[in-house]
Amino acid sequence: MRDSQTRIAVLVSGGGTNLQALIDAQKAGILQNGKIELVLSGNPDAYALVRAEKAGIPAVTVGRKACANREEFESKLLAALEEYKIDLIVLAGFMHILSADFTGRWPERMINVHPSLIPSFCGEGFYGLRVHEAALRYGVKVTGATVHFVNEVPDGGRIIAQKAVEIQEGDTPEILQKRVMEEAEWILLPRAVEKVSMAIRKGERI
Ligand code: GAR
Repeated sequence: MRDSQTRIAVLVSGGGTNLQALIDAQKAGILQNGKIELVLSGNPDAYALVRAEKAGIPAVTVGRKACANREEFESKLLAALEEYKIDLIVLAGFMHILSADFTGRWPERMINVHPSLIPSFCGEGFYGLRVHEAALRYGVKVTGATVHFVNEVPDGGRIIAQKAVEIQEGDTPEILQKRVMEEAEWILLPRAVEKVSMAIRKGERI
């Protein structure tokens, strides 16, 4: 077992409620084997940046729109991750697809939370509210959330945890998004991050 905690970067683009769940889990001792050392935002206006500041966590913004192309965006992300000596990357509402070159640098060291039961309603184009719109349009009676490792296939890496959430009559995409967050994402993600952080400290595979 390594002495130090696993050094975590949380990558965000928007509201950052999953980041908040991780910050709260750290305070509550649910997240013990890892420590959030960096919040990295792809969007300068993300409210997640305010959450990081309130929690006293260093935050870096790499605006995707300010970069000429994906290579420049990813090389800036990489520079920040290296500067903070990050062991584990958590994509928490990060709305950019990363290249195989980038994901390949972090095999089983990068995880993502997705708001459906993969393999339903996932992959390129399925993010945020769009996922819930698609679930309601299809008419499924159960949806949920998935935490998985990230590889070169969007939402295609090995599944770590899943939780089902029932769809109710009268659901709108917004109502469903909130229920999936409350009943699944905010619970699953901190537990998964703790599990992977512990495995990294022990040098084990989960
Ligand atoms: C969450 O529901 C997350 O699962 C989803 O975006 C939302 C971000 O909310 N992520 C994706 O759709 C990625 N494919 P947050 O910023 O409040 O955590």
